Amino acid sequence: YHVDWDASAAEKGGYDYFMLKEIVEQPRAVADTLLGRLSVDGLLTLDEMRLTPEDLRSVEKIVIIACGTSYHAGLIAKYAIEHWCRIPCEVEVASEFRYRDPILDQQTLVIAISQSGESMDTLMAVRYAREQRARVLAICNVNGSTIPRESDGVLYTHAGPEVGVAATKTFMTQLIACYLVGLYLAQVRGLKFGDEITAVIAQLATMPEQVDKVLKTVEPVRELARSLSDADTVLFLGRHVGYPVAMEGALKLKELAYMHAEAFAAGELKHGPIALIEDGLPVVVVVPSPKGRSVLHDKIVSNIQEVRARGARTIVIAEEGDEAVRPYSDVLIEIPAVPTLLQPVVATIPMQVFACELALAKGNDVDQPRNLAKSVTVE
Ligand code: G6P
Repeated sequence: YHVDWDASAAEKGGYDYFMLKEIVEQPRAVADTLLGRLSVDGLLTLDEMRLTPEDLRSVEKIVIIACGTSYHAGLIAKYAIEHWCRIPCEVEVASEFRYRDPILDQQTLVIAISQSGESMDTLMAVRYAREQRARVLAICNVNGSTIPRESDGVLYTHAGPEVGVAATKTFMTQLIACYLVGLYLAQVRGLKFGDEITAVIAQLATMPEQVDKVLKTVEPVRELARSLSDADTVLFLGRHVGYPVAMEGALKLKELAYMHAEAFAAGELKHGPIALIEDGLPVVVVVPSPKGRSVLHDKIVSNIQEVRARGARTIVIAEEGDEAVRPYSDVLIEIPAVPTLLQPVVATIPMQVFACELALAKGNDVDQPRNLAKSVTVE
């Protein structure tokens, strides 16, 4: 009896690709990033940030800078931070930010999000921000990397090492870190935590289980992806936090499956993108939570109807029990009910699985997609 001992297969924990392993590690990664940061009474403890509560109380504007998938985490953070903290928040890709003479001062908090902590454009943007005397908080996954060393404070994500070039578990933990920063800012600035924020804190603690739940139900997404491997293009639609989730879904498909994919804010459909819809075109739609958000929900249901009436094949990601979307969904992917601002955590997972499976169906190496690097440290 002979066993082939393959070191690389062992590292991949029995999976063919690191990416598959990293996708299933997400509940753990999320739990590790939350660990010790939510205290029993629901208040947050983020003392390791190296920015004092006084520093954070004087903040008048927040600017988030990042590249790639990290930029999408930043876009989602804006919705949460502005809603919870009422501080104006801008988000920009670092390569644009650093070359356009942005206005920053001591009352500006710059949040640099970078998995590697080494992306050249983000690092240069951090240096520029510090020259302007803005305070810089880094959200990074790699301990002791350059961006956190050059920042005023850091909140590490604890996703563990990520080998797959396309970010998965690190994105998930960036979202968690962004939520923690938003809630912490609200807390130190003395905002009264009403029922909504208290509920969000409680829900945040359950995210590892919710992520686990989604992972256990993604099998139909894999089948769907395999059936679409001949498609030329896939469109993604979302509103509110679902829009950056749609952007992340489209990016994953480009990176891994080398397919044309584009995301639109669903409200912009009628201003152009609807002209692209033709018979059989796959359109993935991220549907906001139906509860207490009826305006947004109704609007996206009409958007689904609009594209379907023009022949699109609708792949709808919606909260479980959301019956309103069922009649218009060619494929319905259900995700657990969570507060709207936290929905990206559960809604992103089917997107990752979809892109990964479609890429595998095409025979692509999902760990080392062509032309891409894990971290871009050059101009
Ligand atoms: C590269 C990677 C992406 C990543 C981006 C930003 O393009 O392929 O997966 O999102 O860099 O990297 P960072 O380390 O700054 O988050």
